[in-house]
Amino acid sequence: MGRIPYIGQASSLEPFASPDHLDPQLLSFLEEASGRLCQWLSSASQTGPLPPLNNLPEVPPRIEGLSSELLLADLQLVMEGAYQPSHPGALAHLDPPPLTASIVADLICAGINNNLLAEELSPSLSQLERELCQWFSERLGMPRHSGGVAASGGSLSNLMALVVARQHLNLQNDPNAVILASADSHVSLAKAIRVMGLAPESLQRVPVDKEGRLSIESLKEQLNSLKREGRRCFAVVATAGTTVRGAIDPLADIADISSREGIWLHVDAAIGGVFALSKSTSSLVDGISKADSVTLNPQKLLGITKTSSLLLVAKRSNLLSAFATGLPYIEPAWGEAHGGEMGLQGTRSAEVLKLWLGLRQLGEIGIQSLLDQAIHRRCYLHKKLDGSAFKILSGPLHLIACSPRDLAPSQAKAWSISTRKKLLDEKFMLSRPVHEGCYYLKAVMGNPHTQLSHLDMLAILLNQSLGALPDE
Ligand SMILES: Cc1ncc(COP(=O)(O)O)c(C=O)c1O
Repeated sequence: MGRIPYIGQASSLEPFASPDHLDPQLLSFLEEASGRLCQWLSSASQTGPLPPLNNLPEVPPRIEGLSSELLLADLQLVMEGAYQPSHPGALAHLDPPPLTASIVADLICAGINNNLLAEELSPSLSQLERELCQWFSERLGMPRHSGGVAASGGSLSNLMALVVARQHLNLQNDPNAVILASADSHVSLAKAIRVMGLAPESLQRVPVDKEGRLSIESLKEQLNSLKREGRRCFAVVATAGTTVRGAIDPLADIADISSREGIWLHVDAAIGGVFALSKSTSSLVDGISKADSVTLNPQKLLGITKTSSLLLVAKRSNLLSAFATGLPYIEPAWGEAHGGEMGLQGTRSAEVLKLWLGLRQLGEIGIQSLLDQAIHRRCYLHKKLDGSAFKILSGPLHLIACSPRDLAPSQAKAWSISTRKKLLDEKFMLSRPVHEGCYYLKAVMGNPHTQLSHLDMLAILLNQSLGALPDE
């Protein structure tokens, strides 16, 4: 049968892979692209974490489609301006280098182009997602009917959890319903409240202790005063790994209170949840097994390529009660339910593939070593910093932030700007969070390429910054 030619194609590379023969042009296109990526990854130490902003290639499509050489040249330009997580000094955020198996799984995921909306569009992958979520929830010690769904990011997992919680308590028509979360909980909760049509005051902040953990006494007091006001609380959100210092709220105590009061307990363990996977660190998140729902982001530490977040629930059927609508244009699910009825997203890619393959690549030993080493690097840097001159915010995980003691807020801000710049000149990238009105420099120790010698240098530079503090 004669082929209908593709119009506007200047290159010998076909825009769609042939369904009946192995196309050598496609093979060499993929090989060349992989080669360039490997080159980019392997030259990370020479470049630095944050390249200067360079020109993007031309943005709109041309009249005629581009050849493979020009497409690769376009990609090259974008890569040259990209943030480089594989540089050993890339310590600013929860964005570690990618696992190699995860990169490959992402490529395969794009190539197979399945859709987690419905089982007939992703037969093996729908099953894989179900089973992997179950594995995770069992690993966290959640009950037998637990499970979950993948989401593109922790913000979405948190939003879905709160929607499920409100639905479960039948409070979706109560404009006065409240959630309680610590003063250090993540901003995604404020966004979730907006999307759910609630007033900003519906998110009530509970003070934290000096270690950054939600105060149990304050939680009890706030619950009592809500009762006096006649307002219902539909969820307590505990954080396992706060964003600035990695504090872990007292999960077991919060779980006891929530269950006594008949309130949903959501644990935002976007950062800390993965520590439950290893015997050596699981005690850090004791009590997580009692949660009604958990957000967990393997993208933040394990090197699973973005995005990779899971919403796990103690009772899988709660997801369906909140999100199932029926999919009248799709064959019935042959497993438990279509992915599109387990959460807010409809069409979505099989993100679970890179999570699954990445974990298989690491194995139990690799997972444990990533977690242990991240904590070890944080402890090492902590010891090297001048604790008498720095205020240090840290917790039991791999995050640490510091700011010179006794500075006015404007001085701390000026110090953070100038020190971050000096550090960038030395190819260390730290972030500049504001915590309780004061600027800090924060390091996240999830980068496996960071050696202790790098941390020695980082500590020297930070300690030196104390010698030239800005005037008031
Ligand atoms: C504790 C916590 N929860 C939720 C999130 C949101 O995750 P995402 O950026 O994947 O939406 C973050 C992000 O840093 C976080 O630190």
